[in-house]
Amino acid sequence: MKLRTISELGNIAGKYVLLRDDFNTQIVDGKVNDTFRIAQSLPTIRALQEKGARIAILAHLGRPDGVATPKYSLRPVALALGELLGESVPLISDCVGAPAADARKNMQNGDVALLENVRFHAGEEENDSEFAAQLARGFDIFVNDAFSVSHRAHASTVGVTKFLPSFAGELLASEISAIARAMENPTRPLMGIIGSAKLDTKIKVLESLVAKCDVLAICGGLGTTFLLATGKYNFTDMLYKPEYKEVVERILHAAKRRGCKILLPLDKGVGPEYSATAPRTDKPFADITDGDIIMDDGPESVAQYSEAIDGAKTVILNGTLGLAEWQPNWSISSFALARYIARRTQMGKLESIVGGGDAAASATNAGVEADMTYVSTGGGAFLEFIEGKELPGIVALSSTNAVGG
Ligand code: 3PG
Repeated sequence: MKLRTISELGNIAGKYVLLRDDFNTQIVDGKVNDTFRIAQSLPTIRALQEKGARIAILAHLGRPDGVATPKYSLRPVALALGELLGESVPLISDCVGAPAADARKNMQNGDVALLENVRFHAGEEENDSEFAAQLARGFDIFVNDAFSVSHRAHASTVGVTKFLPSFAGELLASEISAIARAMENPTRPLMGIIGSAKLDTKIKVLESLVAKCDVLAICGGLGTTFLLATGKYNFTDMLYKPEYKEVVERILHAAKRRGCKILLPLDKGVGPEYSATAPRTDKPFADITDGDIIMDDGPESVAQYSEAIDGAKTVILNGTLGLAEWQPNWSISSFALARYIARRTQMGKLESIVGGGDAAASATNAGVEADMTYVSTGGGAFLEFIEGKELPGIVALSSTNAVGG
């Protein structure tokens, strides 16, 4: 699929650019808690500024379901963006109608303004065509840099491309090329490392990775589920459902047929209760009993994954090995694994692609985000891309679909 990118934009001095970014991030005490997505959006904003464009940014925060809700206001994001950009960024009280039109009137070349949460309008998630036309009104060009929301067919990702010449921003283009390269044309051996609590959300990703990887480590709660599905263990786990057995067998069978080596946890970090401060004991999987609450993979498991990483040339990491947000007791293995991947990457032995909100946060909290080859801003979008799904926001940008393509 051919995407037109902003590098193809010629002289756009004085043109009004509607830029879709994904600033959906955690707000704590009225402040942005994690500026990763905002920081990643800067290259496109700066490139458009250098071209003399007048830039209005469209973004969402949370799921306000079409209702203007103060706690989902983008005001903290406008402040954080202004700090990172080194200039103040005004927040425009509505992304359509008079406020948006007035904001445009006052803009000079290179100015940046942030439009209030597009999900304050029901037409956004309904991909309502009249609402998309309102968003586009008064603009000359649409640029989508929001890879992480491109799995949503909304007015600000899909609808608006029917009304404006549309281009991919630098972040969106680099996300696609980094992830597509790892999935379609990796330097082999390719190793997938997937951790997560629930199997339901990862079935398609596991199927897709089994079809592409040389080695696949199925870790954390997923690993527990896979081991319990063998029927060899006698404890109950709250994440396991008997109906998973069939899915697990199907995935293991597909792996065997294709020659994809599967690694499962060898040991687990357990505690007496489900709590961040519960004391930790590491136990071989076979020694776990009903009173143990599993909250992390153990050191033997990490050693096993690390040995496989030594033999890999490309690693795709998604998810964590345990409750990595419960530091320090239950983040031990997720951080150790992230640090090992980062070290091999820095030694020039490995290309590492990290995606999904939890894995990216774990790399950041372990202090090694910058040492990975690529950390995606995508959560759900990263997973759907890896599953091989077409993302509607990207399809809409392709030269055959977008206006002026
Ligand atoms: C994300 O945070 O992954 C994207 O912004 C999509 O958000 P959503 O799941 O609320 O659509």
